Amino acid sequence: MAKSASEISRLNAKSTISKFDSEIVTSSSVLGHPAKEFPIPAPLIEHGNAKIISVVNQKGGVGKTTTTINLGAAFAELGRRVLLVDFDPQHSLSVGLNVSTRDIEGSIYNLMMDESTSIDEFLLKTSVPGMDMVPAHEDLSGAEGGLVTVIAREKILKRVLAPVLDFYDVILIDCQPSLGLLTVNALTASDWVLVPLECEYFALRGVALLDDIIKKVQINTNSELQLLGILPTMFDRKTVHSREVLERISDAFPGKVFDTTIARTVRFPETTVAGEPITSYASSSIGAAAYRRLAREIISMGGVR
Ligand SMILES: Nc1ncnc2c1ncn2[C@@H]1O[C@H](COP(=O)(O)OP(=O)(O)OP(=O)(O)O)[C@@H](O)[C@H]1O
Ligand SMILES: [Mg+2]
Repeated sequence: MAKSASEISRLNAKSTISKFDSEIVTSSSVLGHPAKEFPIPAPLIEHGNAKIISVVNQKGGVGKTTTTINLGAAFAELGRRVLLVDFDPQHSLSVGLNVSTRDIEGSIYNLMMDESTSIDEFLLKTSVPGMDMVPAHEDLSGAEGGLVTVIAREKILKRVLAPVLDFYDVILIDCQPSLGLLTVNALTASDWVLVPLECEYFALRGVALLDDIIKKVQINTNSELQLLGILPTMFDRKTVHSREVLERISDAFPGKVFDTTIARTVRFPETTVAGEPITSYASSSIGAAAYRRLAREIISMGGVR
């Protein structure tokens, strides 16, 4: 285990609701619905029974990795024990948290391919107290081919994560932009799917395909899987365009679009260079406030305790 239980449980909720909250564009404001508020939840007295959330969209560059890192950091600020799983051979999540693939002893690839390994061996602490991660490596791209002949190949990640479910409160899986075997593994291991959707005109293209895969997984390997929500990302409050796209997304997925939207801001690319979440890099910013609000929204709706 990367960090002892006692070390993490010293953490207290330290998330705040800031003046930036009033600047976050919400789905309710765009759709003319009554405003919603998500209070800071009470700290947990007991940990464990982790909810697993796959962050999925086969379209590239829509904010999956950014969401995984910053939502994870926001949950950790609320005193939740968080594990991030880098499940993309591009290993952007590892890079975004300053983990070099040269320095790691093993990655999610080893855990997937070698049953004699255990997740405890490859857990890393992040700069965020209470948030650990499992890194990825380019070699993960070979996993899909390598797993073709393995029995129950869709359920391998589920087996890998099973030993730490009692320790963490939430596990976020950063998926690669594809709907192949790795993503099916993530969905098979998960309770929830979170879909970041960039607020641009062709955003909805391909979502039908994603919906299809979710249904197939529900039928074949994980009947518990549910859509947690669609997260509008890269929202530009100055354009009518972003609002129109948000309306279309809400029409297509009634009741399934998060109230919190993520604005387009240059602070996010900056955080990747800095190798840390926006909640610490620019703690007082609209981007940090938005991911903190999203974490509170997910806890309010019962997605995570
Ligand atoms: N809200 C935002 N505003 C501005 N830039 C953003 C925002 N969210 C993410 N970005 C930037 O957009 C790029 C793509 O984001 P990110 O890596 O999170 O997407 P992704 O869906 O994980 O991509 P991939 O499909 O390649 O894994 C990154 O440079 C990131 O810093
Ligand atoms: Mg990514």
